[in-house]
Amino acid sequence: MPFRIATFLIASIAAGVCASVLLGRDFWWMGAWLGGLLWLGLDAWRAQQVLKALRNDATGLPTRGTGVWGELSERIRKLLRNREQQTRQAEDRLQEFLAAIQASPNGVVLLDAQGRIEWCNQTAAGQFGIDAERDLLQHLANLVRDPAFVAYLASWNYSRDVLIDASPQRGGQRGHPVRLSVQVHPYAGNRRMLLTRDITSLEQAEAMRRDFVANVSHEIRTPLTVLAGFVETMQNLPLDADERVRYLALMGQQSQRMETLVNDLLTLSKLEGSAAPSALQWNRARTLLVQCENEARGLSERLAPQQGHRLSFLVEADVEIAGAATELQSAMSNLLSNAIRYTPPGGEVAASWRLMPDGRAEYAVRDSGPGIAAEHIPRLTERFYRIDRSRSRETGGTGLGLAIVKHVAQRHGAELRIESTLGKGSRFALLFPLSRVREARAALGA
Ligand SMILES: Nc1ncnc2c1ncn2[C@@H]1O[C@H](COP(=O)(O)OP(=O)(O)OP(=O)(O)O)[C@@H](O)[C@H]1O
Ligand SMILES: [Mg+2]
Repeated sequence: MPFRIATFLIASIAAGVCASVLLGRDFWWMGAWLGGLLWLGLDAWRAQQVLKALRNDATGLPTRGTGVWGELSERIRKLLRNREQQTRQAEDRLQEFLAAIQASPNGVVLLDAQGRIEWCNQTAAGQFGIDAERDLLQHLANLVRDPAFVAYLASWNYSRDVLIDASPQRGGQRGHPVRLSVQVHPYAGNRRMLLTRDITSLEQAEAMRRDFVANVSHEIRTPLTVLAGFVETMQNLPLDADERVRYLALMGQQSQRMETLVNDLLTLSKLEGSAAPSALQWNRARTLLVQCENEARGLSERLAPQQGHRLSFLVEADVEIAGAATELQSAMSNLLSNAIRYTPPGGEVAASWRLMPDGRAEYAVRDSGPGIAAEHIPRLTERFYRIDRSRSRETGGTGLGLAIVKHVAQRHGAELRIESTLGKGSRFALLFPLSRVREARAALGA
């Protein structure tokens, strides 16, 4: 301010002095008056320039100039530059947040106070079958018509979530229905944030768990009921020595069944819970097969004491397999015992190891048994799945054998192949990947 007064006075005095020199002493006050006016005019013009520039988004603000107006322009420009930078940073951060929410596997929808879509991520758009751009500001309740969802949205009671089916388009894409858990969280007054979660696999796992518990209970209850019946008979009826021996043998069979079931369950849970089998521990296929052969001959003698089975064991390629010996042994003998149990006496069962042209090793068990209808084949490895329950029960099966084989195969990166023709027989094969196969050391040294 003092600077402005000083410049004003200097301009007036200078003009007054000029007037008195040029026109005479009597005219100094006129010069001073004109000088003052000129200063004011110039000042008003510069102020006008600054105002005009500010009206036009401050684009034409005069660059650094002298005096108050120059200083003012400069400060305004600096302030604006800072603001612009801050706005840009805030915008960038917002975009990063939105990108993060986009990347979320859960759906997010923001609703305004009227329940219209303000923003939604791609996951939610896919799950609800809406278009993130086209359906902006549409009422969500008009687009997602599930009655449970509409009622939930209108209730304003969001203490729990609501379960609905995802849009059929999405289910169609995946080929199976998708279940969603939707929960609303109100914020900023009447606005709402909707979070969705795909709980299909969770529900499937829950259903599987229920089935599993029901199956296990059923499998244990059956021999238990039989056992309890025998105990009751022995308690209430006077039995002679032969009868007692017979009953005790039958009771032994039932308890054996329960033991087998529990052992199989433990094997499965161990397979699921333990670390991947070693890729450094090499097991000679020939050795594994010899052990299986002993078991198989014993089983065949027990099941078909008279006629027996025509058994053959062949090692076409002397290979070694990397993995856990006990698991490999268990998978191999499971396939072999199935072939013997389901092939009638006199039938043929052949087990072999061979090398495929692509370097993979194959363990195959072929039998001339009853064969398996095509519709059963994809389900054979499900736990407790048996084609003929009564027959399987006769032979003592619980339906866990192939589930164990499949697990062992998966853990070793192997493929389980099942081929079968009704009335002709079946072929179960395990194909081990190149990484787990090598020629046997003993064979190389020989
Ligand atoms: N070689 C085969 N020939 C005909 N059917 C078979 C053969 N192998 C398996 N199956 C059928 O597949 C079903 C499932 O076999 P899996 O080995 O999983 O169970 P299981 O033999 O019944 O019982 P477990 O092996 O637990 O004692 C069997 O019940 C049987 O019906
Ligand atoms: Mg079996």
